[in-house]
Amino acid sequence: MDCRLSIMDRVHWIGVNDRETTLFENFWPLDRGVCYNSYLIDDEKIAVIDTVKFNKTEQYLSKVKEVIGDKKVDYLIVNHMEPDHSGSMKALVAAYPDMKIVGNKKTFDFIRGFYDITENFLEVAEGDELDLGYHKLKFFLTPMIHWPETMMTYDQTEKILFSMDAFGGFGSLDGGLFDDEVNVEFYEDEIRRYYSNIVAKYSPIVQRALGRLGTLDIKVIAPTHGPIWRTSPKTIVDYYDKWSRYEAEEGVVIVYGTMYGNTAKMADYVARIISENGVKNVRVYDASKTHLSYILSDIWRFKGVILGSCAYNMNVFPAMELVLSKLEHTGLKNRYLGVFGNKSWSGGGVSAIDTFAEKVKWEKIGTSIEATYTPKDAEFEALIKLGKEMAQRVKDNPL
Ligand code: FEO
Repeated sequence: MDCRLSIMDRVHWIGVNDRETTLFENFWPLDRGVCYNSYLIDDEKIAVIDTVKFNKTEQYLSKVKEVIGDKKVDYLIVNHMEPDHSGSMKALVAAYPDMKIVGNKKTFDFIRGFYDITENFLEVAEGDELDLGYHKLKFFLTPMIHWPETMMTYDQTEKILFSMDAFGGFGSLDGGLFDDEVNVEFYEDEIRRYYSNIVAKYSPIVQRALGRLGTLDIKVIAPTHGPIWRTSPKTIVDYYDKWSRYEAEEGVVIVYGTMYGNTAKMADYVARIISENGVKNVRVYDASKTHLSYILSDIWRFKGVILGSCAYNMNVFPAMELVLSKLEHTGLKNRYLGVFGNKSWSGGGVSAIDTFAEKVKWEKIGTSIEATYTPKDAEFEALIKLGKEMAQRVKDNPL
């Protein structure tokens, strides 16, 4: 028998680990794997909450069978339709053709569109309830965390919040399922990477949802990714609260795009100045080498950001263009920004970062520093000034 959500003897984890998929959404690296959590409530009426990605359907169906034997699933509750959770829906419907599919008005458009399933729908709205016998479920619509149809299911009997993507993270569940069975520090990086990569754009909506959920008595948070929070749900709520308010720690992330090393030389120089001025968390990334996923995660973590680019065909370096566009897209606020770069026969890199700075409205530290061909005394002096001021600002105002 696979591990169970054993603090409640009729609520089961029927999720799966995926260590084969290399890129989440075919873009974000999964070096530590990912899990797709699904849950089964074995009551007078049997309910499954979300399914798993299509590559794990066979394993998933056998888990359902293992828990309920020859009994039938009465309800499939669809909190979220992204295919990492709905990918086994069609197979579950085939196995249990009388099963009702529970979703909100928007859910069914996705189901018809993705899977051509058109019947056995049970529509619920905000605050509606579903009685399974002992377990009484209540539904909360939370559109845009992470898609328009997303909702959460609250088990009023056991006080479990099935929160779909919210409160989730990357990383497979390597033995431990619950927060008290794992080293939470190990998962924090993967949870923040997931937040900054996948959820971040919807931070204001996360804040509103946290306000609404604050009225519930929640003993367990059961998301669709990452550990299940049964001992300290407050820990994961605090993470999400902090990140969705754009709070940050003392530290500086320096990201640069370089072709032949001159912009990189400036990055290392300013990093040393910041370090000499007492900031221990300094991260330097070559945007061509480190995946955007990790860069975003650190920028979400630390208060200071310094962005550098060489000129590339009269524009910003392509790898930095991706960093800038994703940062602008996520809507991150409240960071200190330094700008530097290099040009030769044309400019374009620094001016593109300046344009980004105007759009995101982060607090600019000093003026932009642009070297010509190679950085010289004037640029190194300007970098000293920038490094000192940035160090002072992040130490004085980490949040
Ligand atoms: Fe885990 Fe938005 O899917």
